[in-house]
Amino acid sequence: MKKLILLLLPLLFSAYSLAMPKVEFRDLKIEGQQQLVLFVADVTQLRGSAAQVDKLTEGRLSKAIKASGLKNDFGQHKTFYGLSPFSQITVVSGTDKLLSQAELQQLGGYAVSNFPANGQQAIALFSDDIKTDVAAPEAYIAMGAGMRDYHFDTYKKADAKTSPRWLILNAADNTAATLYQNDLRYVVEGIYLARDLASEPGKNIYPQTFVERVTAKFSGLKNVKVTVLNVKDMQKHNMGALMGVGLGSVHEPKLLVIEYNGTSKNTPPTALVGKGITFDTGGISIKPNDGMWAMKSDLSGAAAVAGTMLAVASRGENVNLVGLMPLAENMPAGNAIRPGDVLSTMQGTTIEIISTDAEGRLILADAVRYAQQQYKPGMLLNIATLTGSAARALSDEYAALITRDWDLSVKMMAVGKLSGEEVWPLPLHPNHFKQIKSEIADIKNSGAGNPGASIGAAVVATFVDEQLPWVHLDIAGVDWLDADIAVAPKGSQGWGVRFMDQLVRQQAKQL
Ligand code: BES
Ligand code: MN
Ligand code: ZN
Repeated sequence: MKKLILLLLPLLFSAYSLAMPKVEFRDLKIEGQQQLVLFVADVTQLRGSAAQVDKLTEGRLSKAIKASGLKNDFGQHKTFYGLSPFSQITVVSGTDKLLSQAELQQLGGYAVSNFPANGQQAIALFSDDIKTDVAAPEAYIAMGAGMRDYHFDTYKKADAKTSPRWLILNAADNTAATLYQNDLRYVVEGIYLARDLASEPGKNIYPQTFVERVTAKFSGLKNVKVTVLNVKDMQKHNMGALMGVGLGSVHEPKLLVIEYNGTSKNTPPTALVGKGITFDTGGISIKPNDGMWAMKSDLSGAAAVAGTMLAVASRGENVNLVGLMPLAENMPAGNAIRPGDVLSTMQGTTIEIISTDAEGRLILADAVRYAQQQYKPGMLLNIATLTGSAARALSDEYAALITRDWDLSVKMMAVGKLSGEEVWPLPLHPNHFKQIKSEIADIKNSGAGNPGASIGAAVVATFVDEQLPWVHLDIAGVDWLDADIAVAPKGSQGWGVRFMDQLVRQQAKQL
């Protein structure tokens, strides 16, 4: 019976996963009764499809735009009802500048942000008045629309759930359709997976269920190998830091590893390592209640790694990639680790615990060590909701980026800009390593306090070979937002899927 339930669990969970909008690209005609979205470069001078629509409404659209005060301001948008023969017309302002991939995604997001939440909704999108040098721009518009049209309504009653929307984009040839259906939609799927995992209550997502839900998504994908290390395996590797963080929880820690070998060339893989704290109470160094519920999303780094792996493996990119997701729940309990305890790591070094709330760096310490020993990567990126300090410094706009090499930082800023997920560098100074010297162990897990994001990075850096190109992303500020943005409703952003996906694309080009 137990076995049967275990077998059924992945099925149950995959049924939970939320539907993406249906997307179609075709030579679309303007017809009455449609629900339209018109992207216009200049709201005072309608051209192309927008001009045609205006004509069919006998000029009432342009009058309505004027009366509404809609301005030429990128992303500003208004929805007009009752302009017969159309049931609903949304006008989204572009700009006369050339739009980037990320801006096209934003326009797609604005396009669907106004639509009623319930019922099956077919929307016709016309983008002939957009200026861009991006090939197949409609594919990026569809991607952004899909990203924005995410709803986490697993726990709502049936009639409060949102039915998936149906987007029809006006694109005469099939380049946009091909790019979207064979590639970009998998990125949206990866983002949905990451958001689902980060939105799910801690009661239902713990290391084992994280593993089940993610593993189910990879079944049937080519060139993928999934390995799960449990406590016994961790003992063999002496992963005292990862095991230590898991001690206070009734749920055992796990290390989920997904290998994707997409090229037969003998190139070393890139390793993506994501923090997967399925709930962070702070442990014995317990957090105050205020806002603690949001710590259900302390697995956002691991969720983004899972989402990226899914996108890359689904489209069959020509790269070798390995995703490592250390998973643990940080709880206070009689057998939890205490401040003052010393943990031994896979590297052989020891860590004195100053705060049990600085747990992310502990699980990363063993995971990055394992990544290097087992997979000899050519580059290692770790991504984590690591410090409140990074969130205070950079807020919602940038993830904190820390590397040992300025050139690499510059490259990562460019990747961020292109992907739509931006990063900004913070320092790593020799003094930050001095701050984590311990009286009784090799290092301690937190210093005097400031600068918190750099101290956290210094702990992780201690476990990364100095010659290895290493990128540290602290996403504590960006992974969860309190207000909607163009490409996401408030809540979990799935931050990192677009960034890491873009990095992988660049590496595939270089091979
Ligand atoms: N998961 C938190 C960081 C965090 C804070 C993420 C706010 C998202 C929003 C992390 O484990 C943590 O508790 N960090 C401490 C470190 C400190 C004890 C050295 C922090 O930033 O306060
Ligand atoms: Mn913590
Ligand atoms: Zn944490």
